[in-house]
Amino acid sequence: GTDLIGRHFLTLKDYNQSEIEHLLWTASDLKTRYKENKEVFQPLIGKSIAMIFQKRSTRTRLSTETGMSLLGGHAVFLGPDDIHLGVNESLQDSAKVLSRMTDVVLARVYGQSDLEELSKYSTVPIISGLSDMYHPLQILADFQTLQEHFGQLKGLKLAWVGDGNNVVHSFLMGCPKLGMDLNIATPKGYDVDPKVKEDAVTLVKQSGTSMNFTRDPMEAVAGTDVVITDTWISMGQEAESKKRIKDFMGYEVTKEMMAAAGPHAIFMHCLPRHKEEVSDEVFYDEKRSVVWQEAENRKWTVMAVMLNLLQQYMPLHPKPTF
Ligand code: CP
Ligand code: NVA
Repeated sequence: GTDLIGRHFLTLKDYNQSEIEHLLWTASDLKTRYKENKEVFQPLIGKSIAMIFQKRSTRTRLSTETGMSLLGGHAVFLGPDDIHLGVNESLQDSAKVLSRMTDVVLARVYGQSDLEELSKYSTVPIISGLSDMYHPLQILADFQTLQEHFGQLKGLKLAWVGDGNNVVHSFLMGCPKLGMDLNIATPKGYDVDPKVKEDAVTLVKQSGTSMNFTRDPMEAVAGTDVVITDTWISMGQEAESKKRIKDFMGYEVTKEMMAAAGPHAIFMHCLPRHKEEVSDEVFYDEKRSVVWQEAENRKWTVMAVMLNLLQQYMPLHPKPTF
């Protein structure tokens, strides 16, 4: 079986195909056990997670807190005003104390380097709840959603339209490993991080998948199975709102764009959604938009991560086709 005990979860870069598949299998298994079969299953009784948030959150907080409680453990929420992290106490010192009182830590921070610093000094697993560089938990939920919708991940063609941000960086790490092609359309000045791109190109070569970068959203979406976007203004970039909205003109995901993707193509968005990046018509289209299923799957996937980092888990139900 797959053993992920004690590992940090800071980026999908550190997880190989079979480890990602094991997490997704666990997530689907837990969804069946709790949601369908209404099972009471509490493998984490007596365990606790510290949840550190330097930014706002609806989904990451709710999914982790309610998920930990389903698993039988306890979650402690620590907002920006609750903990000394990096302000009145070094990250190193906080990490040492957190390690002595909790079994796992989830942190939503600005710099990826803060997560790395925490993980360097923590003796318990650190889970990224998003940084400016990556959002690995989101991509697990997105992959679960795609698997549920299409019955398989391998061979899917994804199109990202919008900002070269943390969320697409995690797609770049995950898609090649699971055999998916990725087209990315970003405006000038909003390209993906060059280092992440370099890593992704290496993964693409190893996996034989494809990855294309363009300025033209219509070119990116043509013939794809999934059109994905995110806000143009990530948390911390609020001061740039005006300029960004101008610079992203033409990148709104519209009905026309979905038509160019193809009749079977679906729409995804990690949420929270701002008005400008996708039309209401697409966002609330019950046939094509899977955003609510995607949000729900944040819960099953973070539960899979917490469980596997704390104990070895062998799913009861057959492995889905990835
Ligand atoms: N998608 C996501 O991470 O949402 P929150 O910011 O609400 O946690
Ligand atoms: N890119 C967004 C994602 C929010 C879940 C942000 O960083 O704010």
